[in-house]
Amino acid sequence: MSALLSVRDVSRNFVIRRDLLGRPRDLVHAVDDVSFDVDSGQTLGIVGESGSGKSTLGRLAMRLIEADDGRITFAGQDLRTLSPRRLRELRPAMTMIFQDPYSALDPRWTVGRLVAEPLRVAGSTTAVEQRAAVAEMLGLVGLDTDAVDRRPSAFSGGQRQRIVIARALITRPRLVFCDEPVSALDVSTRALVLGLLRDLQRDLGLAYLFVSHDLGVVEAMSDRIAVMHLGSIVEIGPAEAVARHYRHPYTASLVSASPAPDPVAQRARRRVVLAGDPPSPVDPPPGCAFHPRCPLAHPICGKRKPPLRAGSDGHAVACHVTNGDPLLTGAALLSRMTGAADALVRTPNTAKGTAS
Ligand SMILES: Nc1ncnc2c1ncn2[C@@H]1O[C@H](COP(=O)(O)OP(=O)(O)OP(=O)(O)O)[C@@H](O)[C@H]1O
Ligand code: SF4
Ligand SMILES: [Mg+2]
Repeated sequence: MSALLSVRDVSRNFVIRRDLLGRPRDLVHAVDDVSFDVDSGQTLGIVGESGSGKSTLGRLAMRLIEADDGRITFAGQDLRTLSPRRLRELRPAMTMIFQDPYSALDPRWTVGRLVAEPLRVAGSTTAVEQRAAVAEMLGLVGLDTDAVDRRPSAFSGGQRQRIVIARALITRPRLVFCDEPVSALDVSTRALVLGLLRDLQRDLGLAYLFVSHDLGVVEAMSDRIAVMHLGSIVEIGPAEAVARHYRHPYTASLVSASPAPDPVAQRARRRVVLAGDPPSPVDPPPGCAFHPRCPLAHPICGKRKPPLRAGSDGHAVACHVTNGDPLLTGAALLSRMTGAADALVRTPNTAKGTAS
């Protein structure tokens, strides 16, 4: 069975400065040669620190912005070569839920009009059909039907995100790009909205491309997880393999930074403190872009970019050091890294010498 969404070797640079003749001078390498699949009814979670390229990757995959290179196929159609008219026809099948439910909803419009808008734009339903669809969708997201005549200001943050979800699903899409959909909500509301998204996925057969900087949230939502660092996927595979048996030092640093649900485990966990600032996407380090901060870096890491290599379980990692070592996974990797990080602090000159 072919994937619903297939992304192959996709890259995107942004020009942030031009010279006097208007030629590109400084480029941000936002997404660099990325490939992944999303199957029907499944969730691919994308996790990584701020600026790693998660939102840009999602926007490229939905063709909200244009890629410089690569191939993107959705439901068997080559998105990059589709005419504007065919792309418009396909839009209702690919929709989005963004982070901020306050800016996403025009405060002057009623909920009924807001939720019906994508159907009106698609133009294939009557006003009566649109009203019936809105009433059904409000029920599915857990809002009373009398919400239709009220405006967004009458609702809490969590309820507004339910309105945003209703609007994203009113056209009955097959794929939804969820970009940090709960990070603007308070903790108790987050769990409810995540539960709603999971229920809707099951009931409506949705596929999600689910972006978050929080590995715990991504693990709870995803079938597969991709970890992004400075525009590249450095680890990808089944959710449990990536979140529990992670094999990339960058993933290990994300795990060590995210709070453990169990306070005893939290106390026992040692935190990897990365040396230095995140590298600049304008001038990325050579070789493995994580090498200036990686406690396990070898001399080769600063010279050659490690390929993303998959094992038989579909768990792929881009690392010169951990890839050939079956024992360097999960807690063992974390423990090796915290030991190496201590060594970095004690003998900074030696460590710096090996990492460059
Ligand atoms: N339109 C743009 N013009 C110039 N640079 C951009 C543009 N959009 C994104 N970038 C840059 O591309 C890189 C990736 O940005 P992106 O928003 O995709 O990251 P992100 O992982 O979603 O971050 P966050 O977690 O903060 O949302 C960043 O360095 C960002 O500054
Ligand atoms: S390739 Fe080297 S620098 Fe990069 S993550 Fe692996 S050990 Fe660290
Ligand atoms: Mg983002």
